[in-house]
Amino acid sequence: MITRKVLGKTGEKIPEIGLGTWRMGGGSKPDRSRDKEWIEAIRTAIELGMTHIDTAEMYGAGHAEELVGEAIKGYPREELFIATKVWPTNLRYDSVIRSCEGSLGRLGLKYVDLYMIHWPSEEVPLRETMKALEKLYKDGKIRYIGVSNFSAELLEEARSYLSVTDVVANQVEYSLLNRSIERDLFDYCRREGVTITAYSPLAKGRIATEARSETRLGRALREVARKYGKTPLQVALNWVVYQDFVIAIPKAVSREHLEENAGASGWRLDTSDYEYLSRVSAE
Ligand SMILES: NC(=O)c1ccc[n+]([C@@H]2O[C@H](COP(=O)([O-])OP(=O)(O)OC[C@H]3O[C@@H](n4cnc5c(N)ncnc54)[C@H](OP(=O)(O)O)[C@@H]3O)[C@@H](O)[C@H]2O)c1
Repeated sequence: MITRKVLGKTGEKIPEIGLGTWRMGGGSKPDRSRDKEWIEAIRTAIELGMTHIDTAEMYGAGHAEELVGEAIKGYPREELFIATKVWPTNLRYDSVIRSCEGSLGRLGLKYVDLYMIHWPSEEVPLRETMKALEKLYKDGKIRYIGVSNFSAELLEEARSYLSVTDVVANQVEYSLLNRSIERDLFDYCRREGVTITAYSPLAKGRIATEARSETRLGRALREVARKYGKTPLQVALNWVVYQDFVIAIPKAVSREHLEENAGASGWRLDTSDYEYLSRVSAE
C-alpha cells in the first residue's frame, strides 16, 4: 500500500510515490517507437497505486500527455491525480489558457488535478501568469495550482498574486545526491504548507549505480536495506519522502522498476536511519 499525504493545505491526500513521464514519448520531439510499452508502464503504475501521474506539455512535444491520456482511459477519473505543466515560452495570459486547453485535449480530460509553471520566466511578469492560472482554476479546468523550479522567494511572490486559492506544490529536484533545496525551500514549504514534489528522486538513475558501489553512501544504503528487508533503492526513495510535506515522482518503465518503486512506500525509516543516511550523503 502506498502511503498517502495531504497535498498542500487542501486536505486531499495523494500517493507519496507517483510516476514521472519525462522521456516517455520522446524528449523534445515526439517518439512513437515504444508507445505500447510506455502505455503499459503507466497502467502498471496505476495498478500499483502510483495514481499521481506527472507529465508536461513539453515532454515529447505533447506526446507524453497523449500517452497518459491513452493509458488512463477506463479508470475512474476521481481515482487519478493527473499533473501537467506549462512551458516558460507560454506564460503570457492567453498562452497559458491555450496551453492548458492543448494539454486537456491531449490528455482527453475535462480538468487536470494540478497545473504547474514548469520553470520561472524572466520575460513574463509572474503576476500575469498567476492570474491566468487562477482563471483556469475558477473555470474548473484545473483543480490546483503549482509551480516548479521556484525558489522560496519566487514561490512567495507567486502566492501573493492569487486571491481565491493558493499554490499547493513546488516541484523541484531532490534526492540523496542533490539536497540543495534543504537550504531554504524546505523550511519555507514546511512552515507554509506547500508540498514539495521531488523530481529526479533517483538522481536520474544514478542512485542505482551508487547503491552498487563501494562509496560510503552505497554501503550505508545496503546496510539499512538489509535491516528493513528492502532494496537499497527503496531505502533511497523512502528517505526522499521521509518528511510529511514531501512526495516523489520517480520515472520507470519496466515492471520490475515500477514494483520496486511502489515498494518504497507503506513503511517508514526510523529517525536514526534517516539521519544516518542524511549524514553520510552530506559527506
Ligand atoms: N519539473 C522539472 O523541471 C522536472 C525535471 C526533471 C524531471 N521531472 C519529472 O520527474 C520525473 C522523475 O525524474 P527523472 O525522470 O529525471 O529521474 P528519476 O526518476 O530520478 O530516474 C529515472 C531513471 O531511473 C531508472 N529507474 C527507475 N526506477 C528504477 C529502479 N527501481 N531501479 C533502477 N533504476 C530505476 C529509470 O529507468 P527506466 O525508465 O528504464 O525504468 C530512469 O532511467 C520525470 O520523469 C518528470 O516527470 C521534472
